[in-house]
Amino acid sequence: MESVKEKNHIDPAADRIPAHIAIIMDGNGRWAKERLRGRSDGHAEGVNSVHRITRLASDLGVRDLTLYAFSTENWNRPQQEVDTLMTLIGQAIRNETPDLKANNVKIRLVGDIDRLPADVQRDLYHGVEETSDCTGLNLNLCLSYSSRWELTEAMRAIAAQVRNGRINPADITEDTISAQLATSGIPDPELLIRTGGELRLSNFLLWQTAYSELYFTDVLWPDFGEKEFLAAISEYRKRERRFGRTSEQVRHTPDDPK
Ligand code: IPE
Ligand code: IPE
Ligand code: MG
Repeated sequence: MESVKEKNHIDPAADRIPAHIAIIMDGNGRWAKERLRGRSDGHAEGVNSVHRITRLASDLGVRDLTLYAFSTENWNRPQQEVDTLMTLIGQAIRNETPDLKANNVKIRLVGDIDRLPADVQRDLYHGVEETSDCTGLNLNLCLSYSSRWELTEAMRAIAAQVRNGRINPADITEDTISAQLATSGIPDPELLIRTGGELRLSNFLLWQTAYSELYFTDVLWPDFGEKEFLAAISEYRKRERRFGRTSEQVRHTPDDPK
């Protein structure tokens, strides 16, 4: 079968495919509502999008795909919806793990996993274990995750190290902080996508997206497919990433002294 790269004439190196894409997968509930169906149908359909987009990211040679699947704040939804989501997460990881492994995709969990039901944790850790030797796409699943949770944990850990005399406050750098986050070792995302039309970050990767390109689309997560994903990447490729410098500085590299 022709790969997505061949079909769309994409060369990952030449065409600036972001190495790390993070996605706020929003809009499942509204997708279901539009069809007069229950919210759980929307979440079930959302799992199909996860499958599709993971496959695409892997085919395109993306290094890290970080998916916001369940936030700390989502624990405050009606218990029945939380239960449905937990069941779906367990099912999805059980169903998808063989395929992920076959596609060399490595699962990593990001978040306060201890809060999840024990059987779901078991399914998740089984997926992590099964794919631990995979060397392709890193699929980072954010579950019971929020930035403020993560930053609070990081500050506690650093404070404990200071108290033990292991580090000096003056020696704390940005790297010290990054290393204590749930995403430690994962480079920051170049591109953050939010589906579902809301223009906010909802407590997602606040530290890590300091210089990410942001892409918002009204498309609801269950409708987000190849065309929409490639449109986001194409928009990213048009952006000039200046990191505080001037346009002239970033365009005139030493290799390109025009
Ligand atoms: C995203 O869809 C999935 C989760 C947050 C778990 P929503 O359930 O938030 O869908 P909307 O925003 O109500 O449409
Ligand atoms: C953000 O979506 C969290 C996830 C996609 C997992 P929400 O639907 O929970 O965000 P808000 O409530 O609209 O900010
Ligand atoms: Mg939502």
